[in-house]
Amino acid sequence: MAFLLRFSHSLFISFFLFRFCTPIDTIIPTHAIDDGETLVSAGKKFVLGFFSPSNSNNRYIGIWYNNVPEQTVLWVANRENPLPNSSGVLAIINGDLVLLDARRGTVWSAMNDSNVTNYSSARLLDSGNLVLSDNEGRVLWESFDHPTDTSLPGMKLGVDRRTSIDRYLTSWKSPNDPAHGEFSFRLDSQGLPQYILWKGSERVWRSGPWNGQRFSGVPGMNLNFIFNFRYVANEYETYFTYDLYNASVISRMVLNGSGELQRLTWIDRNHRWNLFWAIPGERCDQYAQCGTYAGCNANQAQSCECLHGFEPRSPQDWYLRDGSDGCVRRRPLECEKGDGFFKLAHAKLPDTLHARVDTRASLKECEDQCLKNCSCTAYSSADINGGGSGCMMWSGDLIDLEVYSDGGQDIYVRVAASELDSKRLVSKKRMMILIITIILGAILFAFCGCCLWQRQKTREGSGENESNHGINEIELEESTRGSELPLFDLHVVAAATNNFSSENKLGEGGFGPVYKGKLMNGEEIAVKRLCKNSGQGSEEFRNEILLIAKLQHRNLVRIIGCCAQGEEKMLIYEYMRNKSLDWFIFDETRRVLLDWRQRFNIIMGIARGVLYLHQDSRLRIIHRDLKASNVLLDNEMNPRISDFGMARLFGGNQTQANTNRVVGTYGYMSPEYAMDGLFSVKSDVFSFGVILLEIINGKRNNNYFSDDPSQNLIRYAWELWNEGRCLELVDSWMLSSCPTNELQRCIQVGLLCVQENAKDRPTMASVVFMLGIDTAMPTPKQPAFCVQKSFNSKDSSTSRTGSCTINEVSITDLQAQ
Ligand SMILES: *[C@@H]1O[C@H](CO)[C@@H](O)[C@H](O)[C@H]1NC(C)=O
Ligand SMILES: *[C@@H]1O[C@H](CO)[C@@H](O)[C@H](O)[C@H]1NC(C)=O
Ligand SMILES: *[C@@H]1O[C@H](CO)[C@@H](O)[C@H](O)[C@H]1NC(C)=O
Repeated sequence: MAFLLRFSHSLFISFFLFRFCTPIDTIIPTHAIDDGETLVSAGKKFVLGFFSPSNSNNRYIGIWYNNVPEQTVLWVANRENPLPNSSGVLAIINGDLVLLDARRGTVWSAMNDSNVTNYSSARLLDSGNLVLSDNEGRVLWESFDHPTDTSLPGMKLGVDRRTSIDRYLTSWKSPNDPAHGEFSFRLDSQGLPQYILWKGSERVWRSGPWNGQRFSGVPGMNLNFIFNFRYVANEYETYFTYDLYNASVISRMVLNGSGELQRLTWIDRNHRWNLFWAIPGERCDQYAQCGTYAGCNANQAQSCECLHGFEPRSPQDWYLRDGSDGCVRRRPLECEKGDGFFKLAHAKLPDTLHARVDTRASLKECEDQCLKNCSCTAYSSADINGGGSGCMMWSGDLIDLEVYSDGGQDIYVRVAASELDSKRLVSKKRMMILIITIILGAILFAFCGCCLWQRQKTREGSGENESNHGINEIELEESTRGSELPLFDLHVVAAATNNFSSENKLGEGGFGPVYKGKLMNGEEIAVKRLCKNSGQGSEEFRNEILLIAKLQHRNLVRIIGCCAQGEEKMLIYEYMRNKSLDWFIFDETRRVLLDWRQRFNIIMGIARGVLYLHQDSRLRIIHRDLKASNVLLDNEMNPRISDFGMARLFGGNQTQANTNRVVGTYGYMSPEYAMDGLFSVKSDVFSFGVILLEIINGKRNNNYFSDDPSQNLIRYAWELWNEGRCLELVDSWMLSSCPTNELQRCIQVGLLCVQENAKDRPTMASVVFMLGIDTAMPTPKQPAFCVQKSFNSKDSSTSRTGSCTINEVSITDLQAQ
């Protein structure tokens, strides 16, 4: 008896221990969950329990991450029916999972169906899915089929026509109320399937149809090496899902209360959610931003552009930059007589509400089919894999088109045949305009010439000298007098350069060829020769001579003199035997000649040179065309900044200016300059940042919008940084020779310089300071051109950190030092 008692006692104890010491992951009919108790998935990844949102006393059943300290609710059971107090119980009753209140009334149930089966249990899986199944393991219900506002890896978004389940996200009403908000993200199966972000019944954003590799409106999708996206469309179901290549990464997609669809990743060491991308990101993401028959191009100031053969419906609004009215045909279609198609490349395909697909047709058959059907307005390939196959056809108006600089796909838009050979017509028209312009110009010219001549005469009378806009010796002499810039004789320069022989040619500079030469005294020179008849060039030449003559710094190229005789205009510099930075760092064999120490010296030197231009010289100069090929290297491998043809003088307290003529080099241009023509010292800082990253990585920052991650250095650096792998940016052979903290510091500075927002970028003074001294540094925010446009995060308020952070401090602190 005593034995039996002891036995039952220990049984009780072990049951007790089991119940309370090891977390359980399953609700069974005999064990309900009270408020305060939780289920924890077997791998301890997810927790289910009662919670209250912030600023609310209401109780809800929810699922959140076990390992994320900041409670992040991913799913809510009773979102519309909160419990007023903590007397709720989650139990299995008659096979259904139900939430009961204090009076044991049903507040919420999974299946709304009593007597489903006589036994069932609900288990919280390590995927975050709560699954109710019967005693044979058949799934009766699962929370993944009823998402709240969050999509987790493995969850499907879309429809299952067999069970009539439609899985979509709905935002919370507010941060303290998980009830259905006004935004939803849902598969739209009318027409060709595509995902739509809705605000109520209004379309906010559209993913575009799946094109075999990605959604047409999400060009950045396929370059993802973190997520494995899949899209399944067959007669039974249509859905989109994704997995993570690395299962220990914590990542979710959430539709937040303001209607922003965000991809967030938990970065443990920073204790915060990191925004990976967000939709809608920029103006072109807005549904039908440009109305019908127009493409939205985010890279242009006037973002809406009518398709070929179309014109603005209301030109006035159009030129006031409201394109929402869209465009209309210039010439009506003539289906019977035969229309044609105009190809629009790099497009986000228009709304597929009135589109259909024929997967068997080839592109040629597609064209024929479309041509035959008078209601067909456009066609394209349905699947871009393997050069394109299948046929997508639109009828009715084409709406919500976007044009990318890269990526996207070709679409063929139906236009009247006369629009296609209208090139001839257009050129005739152009010819007329040209002739008229020439005649008018000639008259004006004659008139002005006359006036000038008159004025010249009067000035000569008063002994005054008038300089015109070309350059002449008088002017050159004037601009050189102050700086004692020597004037060279043409025949001296010609002799030095072997009469400008092609063997002596070093390359092509900003406004003409550059020759190597040797003066009689043995000094080696580089001669920049202005192309004759180069109107723009002479402006740049003049600019350079005016500026550089006044500048002296060991990190700027030194000018020796100039030459202006008749048609010939030349600038003479000291010769740089080691050519330019790009000649080394981008070359497979020469790159090893620059070790980390030298590279760091070069980075510092460029920084000091730019700082001198911005701040320390008597003038305040913005270079505007900093790039690796404009950084020359002297005999000691010291960097010398060259090419001041585009530089601009700034007034003492002027901080920003605008230009109609954006000059500079793609890949080094800051977004505000490239897109809006705004330049400031911060646009030079941006270019410096790109050069810095190029020096570290050894590859060119070629193309901001390329699908190939190796092409967009900024994005690559940023991704590595966010993943705490920033040292991978460094050429491996170099890594052994350099102190990692110095390297990390450089990368951090580089990322600070290329931040999207000019205000966030440090000044050159801060850059020199941060590079030079082991000091606290701000955390870089998302750089410009970092993410593909649709994934472009407009959020720059959340800052992110990488493992490479050395310390955090705000930019203003730093500038105060
Ligand atoms: C997966 O992610 C974890 C945490 O982020 C990381 O520690 C681990 O190295 C990653 N594994 C791989 C194979 O990348
Ligand atoms: C949604 O996200 C955006 C960007 O992070 C943020 O500005 C906004 O406040 C968020 N809305 C809510 C309701 O949390
Ligand atoms: C023409 O296109 C419309 C709309 O796509 C479609 O409903 C109709 O069946 C097509 N007609 C023919 C003859 O293919």
